[in-house]
Amino acid sequence: MFATRSLLVIGIFCFSSAVCERVVCKVEDSKCLTETANLTFKEFIAGGPNVPTSDPLFTKYIEANLPTLAYKFFDSKLLGMKNCQVDLVRISPKDFKYDYHVGCPHLTMEAQYEINGDIGPQHIEGKGDSKIDFYNYNFHFNGDYTSAEGKDGKTHIHLKNHNLEIVTDGKVVYDFKNLFNGDKEKSEAAHKYVNENSKAVDAGSRGPAMEAMMKVFMGNVNAELAETPFDVLFSKEI
Ligand SMILES: *[C@@H]1O[C@H](CO)[C@@H](O)[C@H](O)[C@H]1NC(C)=O
Repeated sequence: MFATRSLLVIGIFCFSSAVCERVVCKVEDSKCLTETANLTFKEFIAGGPNVPTSDPLFTKYIEANLPTLAYKFFDSKLLGMKNCQVDLVRISPKDFKYDYHVGCPHLTMEAQYEINGDIGPQHIEGKGDSKIDFYNYNFHFNGDYTSAEGKDGKTHIHLKNHNLEIVTDGKVVYDFKNLFNGDKEKSEAAHKYVNENSKAVDAGSRGPAMEAMMKVFMGNVNAELAETPFDVLFSKEI
């Protein structure tokens, strides 16, 4: 009885001097939600018993059929999420909407690819290994959430859906091995074009690949939200 009680007190006050109290964010306090989510982001990315790791993010198969370009990625890995930060968490209990912004300085996607089509005036085709580097990528998610009592008797948030907008001013660097069946000249010309025009190429082609990857990521976010109650996720010592 006394043991339980002293444990509880330690949980609330870090020191007997009580300078260090744990406070839970108010749902409407976006600044507090953002700060606390940012503080525990690396731990979340690392994963745990019931939360898959988010670095790397893995997707078995991605297929895109864009107006002039088709591509497939197999066994894709997106690396670098652990270096991202949380730029915004906003929860609106009035209409059960949320915003979640994650900013990433550098992400790398590694996959086997198949590609065929035109990117602007540039024809591109081939299959092999690929590596794509993305710089200054900002993922802006928003959508609807629900809130319910978990098995632990505490409030948990669940994200019902998400829209994704990617905001970036950074470059993208493409490296496709074995383009045009290994034709060096054609491969160099295609790489020169896509890398010199990487912002436009990225904007026109990333959709299906990034959406697939971020679907996995948001699944992990929901795993974390199921695992950890609101008052633990969004609280800090003051
Ligand atoms: C998030 O944490 C990083 C350090 O990991 C820090 O540089 C950044 O200012 C923090 N952002 C917010 C919104 O708290």
